[in-house]
Amino acid sequence: GDVAQQVSTGSLPGWERVDALVRDAHEHLLADRDGAVADYIPTLAAADPELFGIAVVDVTGGAHDVGDAVTAFTIQSISKAFVYALVAQELGRDLVGERIGVNNTGLAFNSVVALELNDGHPMNPMVNAGAIATTALVPGATAAEKWSRLTAAMSAFAGRHLAVDQEVYASESATNDRNRAIARLLRSYDRLDGDPEEIVDLYTRQCSLLVSAHDLAVMGATLADGGVNPVSGEQVVSDAVSRDTVAVLASSGLYEHSGEWLLEVGVPGKSGVSGGVVAVAPGKGAIGAFSPRLDKAGNSVRGQRATARLSRALGLNIF
Ligand code: DON
Repeated sequence: GDVAQQVSTGSLPGWERVDALVRDAHEHLLADRDGAVADYIPTLAAADPELFGIAVVDVTGGAHDVGDAVTAFTIQSISKAFVYALVAQELGRDLVGERIGVNNTGLAFNSVVALELNDGHPMNPMVNAGAIATTALVPGATAAEKWSRLTAAMSAFAGRHLAVDQEVYASESATNDRNRAIARLLRSYDRLDGDPEEIVDLYTRQCSLLVSAHDLAVMGATLADGGVNPVSGEQVVSDAVSRDTVAVLASSGLYEHSGEWLLEVGVPGKSGVSGGVVAVAPGKGAIGAFSPRLDKAGNSVRGQRATARLSRALGLNIF
């Protein structure tokens, strides 16, 4: 029968129903081979394109994992959401709003033109320019101190210690000329504090942290749960900061495709070039998905389709 017709209710359907729907989404999309694995970071090009995992975690900590839901991959751009939350928590929304912004660029995630069009303003924390400028704001007197704050926060969102994939980190470090150019350009506009090389290195490392679809669902559920990790019980950021973070995801989480994503999925989300996707349903929970084949904007094809199907089935649309 058609399981994708659930009407929105105040909360998620019962546990067994959610379990069946997650399985259905996985099964339905398993044979979908559209898109291509990212190749601009050499190590990512070697990813197994067949991998496919989905996880749902609700605000009570209940979890549903299907397929390759605990397979590790690098978090990439999805890290931007959680580093933004850390910095907004530490420095306040006004400073981050003024320095980084919250509006969509309408251009690709690694656009240099977007900077030039906006007097060097990065526009939002989800594009590379804004993310690099956000990472520069992580508190700490040294790069080591900043890194330790950054990984502690990311790990608290996931509820477990997250480690770096050294191979991806090395591979991306050897090929990230574009991000280094973006950092230099930001600095030329006096919009980046600190050493651009050091900041891009921190940013590259944050992108190389290993997570699974299950971890993404826990991290997203923490934003859905007012900043409280529903599994560990830890208050990671304030309720206000989680609300702001989800609002920024709505405007820019899927870059220039954020509008289409909101129409299709109906809840804010974030994607990464290794194939991860997270969708956050405030007050309800989050979906984490992983599938390495991407569309032209750098978003997981199967991840987006599975999330859209599940969002409909679970009645998550917030509009
Ligand atoms: O900076 C980069 O290009 C990568 N570390 C992350 C880009 C990314 O995940 C874009 N997302 N879809």
